[in-house]
Amino acid sequence: MAFLDKHKKIETNATLLLVLSFLVVTIGGIVEIVPLFYLQNTIEKVEGVRPYSPLELAGRDIYVREGCYVCHSQMIRPMRDEVERYGNYSLAAESMYDHPFQWGSKRTGPDLARVGGRYSDEWHVDHLKDPQSVVPESVMPKYAFLARTPLDGRYIGDLLRTHRMVGVPYTDDMLDNAVADFKAQADPDADWDGLLERYPGAQTRNFDGQPQLTEMDAIIAYMQVLGTMVDFSTYTPDKSR
Ligand code: HEC
Repeated sequence: MAFLDKHKKIETNATLLLVLSFLVVTIGGIVEIVPLFYLQNTIEKVEGVRPYSPLELAGRDIYVREGCYVCHSQMIRPMRDEVERYGNYSLAAESMYDHPFQWGSKRTGPDLARVGGRYSDEWHVDHLKDPQSVVPESVMPKYAFLARTPLDGRYIGDLLRTHRMVGVPYTDDMLDNAVADFKAQADPDADWDGLLERYPGAQTRNFDGQPQLTEMDAIIAYMQVLGTMVDFSTYTPDKSR
């Protein structure tokens, strides 16, 4: 009982209790936080993950501007119901070039982390113009103006440069060709060799079905790349980390 009596001393002396609590929290904090400073890298490198192409990045900007993230998350949690509905749980590497990240915790609509390739471009055009025309009970707003808003890529070099400043490894070659790549990706008559060398696996076609380049092209190019960079038929997680 002697031990419990001593504990009583601590509990009845507010200053002593505070000092000792602070000590305990400090030790716990040091043990948890200090090792993080000695890790070279907390993100496992995964094959296939590349920076967004200029057109995809422009689409991502529109996604952020329109607040799509208010209703949609881009993070599949490693739980059975999520994995069965959306596919493999999200890897940290898959959003390593996202500034800001789009993980989110609120889902008014479904998670979009792997929506790429799930629907045709035509479906996306119809759905974005008038969601209720394809999903009658949808509460998603209409974004028909995206198809009427032309994009000329005037600022796309600046956008890439800004992302390079925060750590996305855009090369000088990518910056020099930003406008050309931006226009080529949605142009069925363009020469895509350079674009595909810089952004392996990029999808190239007229995304919105209209002759001119619009915000609709950009956002669909972005939707269609989401979750498609990693090939999960060959991917094996590195469990040693
Ligand atoms: C007010 C909330 C809300 C906003 C804002 C919103 N959505 Fe949605 N979204 C929904 C809901 C609800 C659904 C499910 C019904 C449907 O398919 O329309 C959905 C479905 C979708 C789907 C189909 C997903 C699937 O797996 O079936 C896509 C793609 C999509 N939204 C993209 C977008 C984009 C891009 C934006 C921004 C331009 C956006 N949404 C903004 C609510 C929203």
